[in-house]
Amino acid sequence: MVKNLNTSESKNASNFKLESMREQASLGGGIARIQAQHEKGKFTARERINQLLDPETFVEIGMFVTHRASGFGMESSYPPGDGVVTGWGKVDGRTVYVFAQDFTVKGGSVGEAHGRKIAHLMDLAQQNGAPLIGLNDSGGARIQEGVDALAGYGEIFLRNVRASGVIPQLSIILGPCAGGAVYSPAIMDFVFMVENIAHMFITGPEVVQAVTHEEVNAENLGGARVHRSRSGVAHFTAPDEEAVFSQVRWLLSYLPSNNLATPPSVILNDNPGRTTPELAKIIPSDPQQSYDVHRVIETIVDEGEFLEVQEDFAQNLVIGFARLDSGTVGIIANQPDHLAGVLDIDASDKGARFIRFCDSFHIPLVTLIDTPGFLPGSAQEFGGVIRHGAKMIFAYAEATVPKLSVILRKAYGGAYIVMSSKHLEGDLNFALPNAEIAVMGPDGAVNIIFRKELKEAENAEIRRNELTRQYREELANPFVAASRGYLDDVVTPDEIRIRLIQGLDALREKRRSAPSRKHGNIPL
Ligand code: HXC
Repeated sequence: MVKNLNTSESKNASNFKLESMREQASLGGGIARIQAQHEKGKFTARERINQLLDPETFVEIGMFVTHRASGFGMESSYPPGDGVVTGWGKVDGRTVYVFAQDFTVKGGSVGEAHGRKIAHLMDLAQQNGAPLIGLNDSGGARIQEGVDALAGYGEIFLRNVRASGVIPQLSIILGPCAGGAVYSPAIMDFVFMVENIAHMFITGPEVVQAVTHEEVNAENLGGARVHRSRSGVAHFTAPDEEAVFSQVRWLLSYLPSNNLATPPSVILNDNPGRTTPELAKIIPSDPQQSYDVHRVIETIVDEGEFLEVQEDFAQNLVIGFARLDSGTVGIIANQPDHLAGVLDIDASDKGARFIRFCDSFHIPLVTLIDTPGFLPGSAQEFGGVIRHGAKMIFAYAEATVPKLSVILRKAYGGAYIVMSSKHLEGDLNFALPNAEIAVMGPDGAVNIIFRKELKEAENAEIRRNELTRQYREELANPFVAASRGYLDDVVTPDEIRIRLIQGLDALREKRRSAPSRKHGNIPL
């Protein structure tokens, strides 16, 4: 009897200790630092996780991990969790693995234990085939831990690379992300940033000024606006954390959990047999007139729902996720409304990486083509448009997912070949009756091949118009390509959605293996 009492007393004491340790851990760096975090418009690591995940689904591991460093004041405190919360939970009922850096603990800095916790979580995510989501809010490598902190990052980078193409990896930047710390998000598939709060740079404003004498503040150097529109580092940005988390959930709704799974099928209220007569009005027949390709995409896809990726970067190419008859597709579309839809360095980088993501995760590619070709000029040549443009060819040629395309209007020169053409093993290639496919546009072509004749012609303008019309009728139309089998069909605007859905259905079980090799050598 007495013995039992002792056991239950010690059990209570243990439970009490556990409870108090859990409470201490859940307070991170303490109430004052939490308050400071809130005052900056930021949430704590656990608040963020709860907002992101389905309610009551988070399971935390590693709550009691502490650092084992000494020197520079490190012995004075051993905060449980070491500044990062790790575990798993659900988004729309599907498992995801999450880590959230806790800025209230040593500025969320990455030391040995912190790094190991993230690395362990990444191993679990990869082994169990579930997406990895990193919530970043950190001062970078923990200065007091020296090379052990760098080792922590190295372990993370290695796993980012190993998990690439195996599980989707999403990086959400919710505070500072500086120095080498930026490279983990950069390796991951998608980067999200909160406006005015998130900053990413290799070296901060002070170092920039010391080295280059350039005066620039954190926002102008590495804020969400810069990375959304100029560098292309951020795929998505939002005004606050809640909005960023709903973007994350939206993106996940299109993605499979891993490279062996198929993307989830989400039934929207749309009809696979719906015709799209609006497209005849949206796409002008005059090749000089521009239009917004978003309207074309929204007309074709289920319920007009389109999640655009890198919306403000290289706007001449629109990329993003949508559904056709409930299945996820990756859309790649030239944008005539921006630089006439030319391909250039940034558009090539943007397109190629997106194509490779989709190919890794069994997401069929739907390419909508209306481009006059590659952007000419010394800025492009000096910037390496040759090797950047080559990425698009590499990505399309390498992709083994179903590849469908529609030439909406212009497909000239190298851009015709690049944009998912039959020659790069496009599975189904369609064109509208007005499409112009040729080595170059009629005006340029006539000026080159009839230069001598036009110079000598009595009325050069009339002769030029005649020749241009002849070129357009005889060469720059879809029936020449269709007669060679380079196009599978010429279709009307109103049947585009139906034809794409029929094609996707026929290609659903496509199996195409790449030749055996270690890996190709994509031009970088
Ligand atoms: C240790 C750090 C830290 C770090 C911040 N803290 N960064 N502790 N190592 N890297 C601590 C601060 O000492 C402070 O502790 C607390 O976090 C909050 O920091 P504050 O400076 O008070 O906050 P704030 O004013 O909001 O400024 C945030 C900040 C600034 C901009 C991130 O702290 C900063 O500049 N930190 C250094 C950033 C940096 O240079 N990191 C190294 C990058 S190089 P107390 O106890 O006072 O609250 C790198 C290499 C990685 O990361 C290489 C990988 C390959």
